[in-house]
Amino acid sequence: MSEIKNVTVIGGGTMGNGIAHVFAMSSFRVNLVETNRELADKALAAIDKNLSRMQSKGKISQDEKSTALGRIETHTGVKGAVENAGLVIEAVPENFELKKKIFEQVDQYAPASAILASNTSSISITKLAAATKRPDKFIGMHFFNPVPVMKLVEVINGLKTSPDITKTVLTISENLGKVPVEANDSPGFVSNRVLMPMINEAIYCVYEGVATPEAVDNVMKLGMAHPMGPLRLADFIGLDVCLDILHVLYDGFKDPKYRPCPLLVKMVDAGKLGNKTGSGFYAYEM
Ligand code: CAA
Repeated sequence: MSEIKNVTVIGGGTMGNGIAHVFAMSSFRVNLVETNRELADKALAAIDKNLSRMQSKGKISQDEKSTALGRIETHTGVKGAVENAGLVIEAVPENFELKKKIFEQVDQYAPASAILASNTSSISITKLAAATKRPDKFIGMHFFNPVPVMKLVEVINGLKTSPDITKTVLTISENLGKVPVEANDSPGFVSNRVLMPMINEAIYCVYEGVATPEAVDNVMKLGMAHPMGPLRLADFIGLDVCLDILHVLYDGFKDPKYRPCPLLVKMVDAGKLGNKTGSGFYAYEM
């Protein structure tokens, strides 16, 4: 059993608020950090909505919902939010310089014993760890959207991650009711190294006129029992995020098999990013 009780989540977007949600449901006290009050309130409202959805399905009681919400405190600055943290999880946009800046700050103010984790979907854990003075206490904790529903936590060891830290993070993930799977740092880890080439290939099928998006998705849903087709999933993840990850794979391996489909590049250039912009391979209500 891990002794960690206080967790700080930096970033209250879809992934960050989902991570805060599952920790608060598992008796951890959570400090959730956003850049301003409006975004912090928005993150809390999203958690409230997702807890209400679970309550309406009879998965949790009104009491459990209020208790979980009561465990979350929102902040607009890093210092006060990490001073008592046993574990800090960063879930800000996929930009190395932004993450580096945040980890430098966290490293300065978090207790020396605190574990630092990134929810990055593909940026090198070893490289992020090097921005801190505690690369042995740095690890990847990669959650999946929707976080309250998806069972997996991909736990990624950087080159210097201590085995004790990995063990603690595996235990914490199990205490959340998740199933942790351990991997070593490598571009895209396991999840996105396997997922993104499939999504990219699905986009090539549309680009080359092989089939419509609906047809491609139906093949994978009805033939391979995927809950969502790869193009619906790409919209759900965000086409910009998919493109960023493909760039990490392409740059990391220097292998043309990861070359992003020109249609994906064009759609991102046009601001068609999927669910979050109301349009991607499909149209969405905003
Ligand atoms: N919070 C809480 N509960 C939620 C939720 C949320 N945010 N979103 C969905 N749910 C619950 C619903 O309440 C519902 O519960 P019941 O089974 O009790 O009814 C259940 O999840 C299923 O939801 P829906 O009935 O609304 O819809 P669905 O059956 O179509 O499932 C889905 C939706 C769970 C998203 C499903 O389509 C799915 O599993 N899709 C694939 C998702 C996936 O692959 N995610 C990984 C993306 S990759 C990533 O995140 C990481 C990366 O690095 C890119």
